[in-house]
Amino acid sequence: MASVDSRTELNQAWWNERAGLHRQTRFYQKHIARLTRGGLSLLPLEVGELGDIRGLNVLHLQCHIGTDTLSLSRLGATVTGVDFSAVAIQEARQLSLDLGIPATFEQCEITSLKSRYAEAFDLVFTSHGVLSWLPDLKEWARQISGCLVPGGQFYLSESHPLVWALAEESPVQETSLSLEFPYLAQDQPGTFVDTGSYADRELPTQANETTQWSWSLGDVVNAFITAGMTINHLHEHAAGFYPVTPEFQEGADGHYRLPDPLDGRFPLTFTIRATQPCGVQGP
Ligand SMILES: C[S@@+](CC[C@H](N)C(=O)[O-])C[C@H]1O[C@@H](n2cnc3c(N)ncnc32)[C@H](O)[C@@H]1O
Repeated sequence: MASVDSRTELNQAWWNERAGLHRQTRFYQKHIARLTRGGLSLLPLEVGELGDIRGLNVLHLQCHIGTDTLSLSRLGATVTGVDFSAVAIQEARQLSLDLGIPATFEQCEITSLKSRYAEAFDLVFTSHGVLSWLPDLKEWARQISGCLVPGGQFYLSESHPLVWALAEESPVQETSLSLEFPYLAQDQPGTFVDTGSYADRELPTQANETTQWSWSLGDVVNAFITAGMTINHLHEHAAGFYPVTPEFQEGADGHYRLPDPLDGRFPLTFTIRATQPCGVQGP
């Protein structure tokens, strides 16, 4: 793997530890149970927006322990999942064996993608908690563009930046939300020290410091425009994919929503589809 800076190394240690613990958490056990029953860990809004991916060659970025990679495989794609965490890749390979769902998993850092997978994929997919770990979104979009065949597609489903801006303590009031963290990108990233993870706040973890970046919707859109790709849609959804606070309510569809009367008034997720140009760009 190409050398990474010290902030990325710190984040890598944080992820290696959590990747080794996540499979046993209730959060991931629910995803795995859906796969075991013949279903998908992907959420209905993502399945609907992805459409028919049968026969496509798909790259899943920041695949973590592989639950969504295996879902993409179950939808009929040939999938490669990549992640910078060696532990996540081991876990994902084991899950693929245990569930009997084929996929390839390789350790790869975002900045090494296009040298490794030049024009290799019809679709690049990434989702759920991926952007805040990236120091340079324009470079991220360039790397994605470099992995796509001409006319290839990119799809992202991610927490809305409004969610990242929510206050740490009591963000959900009865009829309003309370904000604390920046919505807009800052000159310097934030440093956080947190035990556990989104999957289980009580996990007994030792590597607890991370460096993270905030990115607005505009930053994401402009990264793809700068990379020369066309944005097909940007959708904001009232449904989320994890319980940001205990007040969030889980529906039968696996989505999490704000309690009434806040449900439907604020975005929790956004999705983007972008397309790689079909031919060589003119001068
Ligand atoms: C929140 S998890 C993604 C969750 C996943 N979509 C799921 O549903 O399980 C974020 C992942 O990004 C990976 N990651 C963070 N920074 C990375 C980088 N610079 N290059 C590659 N992977 C990275 C982490 O190892 C982690 O597995």
